[in-house]
Amino acid sequence: MNLLEINNLSIQFSIDNGVKQAVNNLSLEIAEKEIFCLIGESGSGKTVTALSLIGLITGTPGVVNGQVSFENKNLFYFEEKNGVNKLNMKSEKLLTELRGKRISIVFQEPVSSLSPYYTVGEQIAESLRNMEGYKNAKRDHPLVIKILQKVRFKYPDQVAKLYPHELSGGMAQRVMIAIALVNNPQLLIADEPTTSLDATIQLEILELLKILNQELKLSILLITHDINVASHYGDRIAVMLAGEIIEIGTKFEIFFNNRNHPYTSDLINSYKLIKKPNYSEPRSSLPVDGCQYYSRCPLVQEQRINYHSCRDSKPSFINIENDHKIKCWFYAHEPHN
Ligand SMILES: Nc1ncnc2c1ncn2[C@@H]1O[C@H](COP(=O)(O)OP(=O)(O)O)[C@@H](O)[C@H]1O
Ligand SMILES: [Mg+2]
Repeated sequence: MNLLEINNLSIQFSIDNGVKQAVNNLSLEIAEKEIFCLIGESGSGKTVTALSLIGLITGTPGVVNGQVSFENKNLFYFEEKNGVNKLNMKSEKLLTELRGKRISIVFQEPVSSLSPYYTVGEQIAESLRNMEGYKNAKRDHPLVIKILQKVRFKYPDQVAKLYPHELSGGMAQRVMIAIALVNNPQLLIADEPTTSLDATIQLEILELLKILNQELKLSILLITHDINVASHYGDRIAVMLAGEIIEIGTKFEIFFNNRNHPYTSDLINSYKLIKKPNYSEPRSSLPVDGCQYYSRCPLVQEQRINYHSCRDSKPSFINIENDHKIKCWFYAHEPHN
């Protein structure tokens, strides 16, 4: 069953010289107990997508549109304000109720997400106090220790007494995950949770997420720019480019079917080539009406397909298999489609 359904999500920001379309008609579903990887280069719209799900775009000049439902409940209700469709109070209320409770989020910089003035135990207890029945929980509450055990600290009593500056990056991220789990969420959003960590620690945190996914039947939206992470941990994967999902499918389809969007192929090949996970390339500077990858796409460069359609009009999703879709004119022009 689907836990989360996003339909035609669009996010725009007003900027000095016009409008920045950060997310464009994005649709995806996350099933119960699944790890869903959203992968894409920096600036492709991963973080704003995640923030919109917990109502954190509403306070900024961003305009959100589309439908989002969680546990079969609509989250997005709109109302016109100064000529702009804005999420209304009902949405704000629903999103506030879910945030940190049914949907939790952990970010890239764990240390800066913690308050420097309180111990780990105090900060976990603070989250605990938001929960029904735990209004007076203190830092030595048994659940604080239990939650630290859940994220695999061997000496939870000692960790509870530490201040954030006494934690390594990996420990701090474990603490952030612990805080995110306090209210037993159904969905954990992990936005590049290991990007700031050393390689071996990255692995520990990702393995921990996998364990929690299985142990707690927790769905995880794992946001990463690292195709290698997606290939190891994603049950299903969506590839994002310039605000759009250009390919979506099961891990098997994306990595073993040999039919990919040229951008995904480039990501996979460059990873194999350099054997180094942090792939990044300069982004094409100007948005185009057609495919956002056209200026970098080897298939276009080889003139194997219609250059003008790639540049001038957006391809729609082509169904490659059950649960595998690609937005690319190359597949639209294949004889059997
Ligand atoms: N508050 C904002 N105002 C204007 N533009 C923004 C804002 N937040 C994000 N953006 C823009 O939206 C795009 C997507 O950003 P983001 O979701 O952070 O990308 P990613 O997480 O994939 O690196 C970027 O071009 C970014 O500059
Ligand atoms: Mg981001």
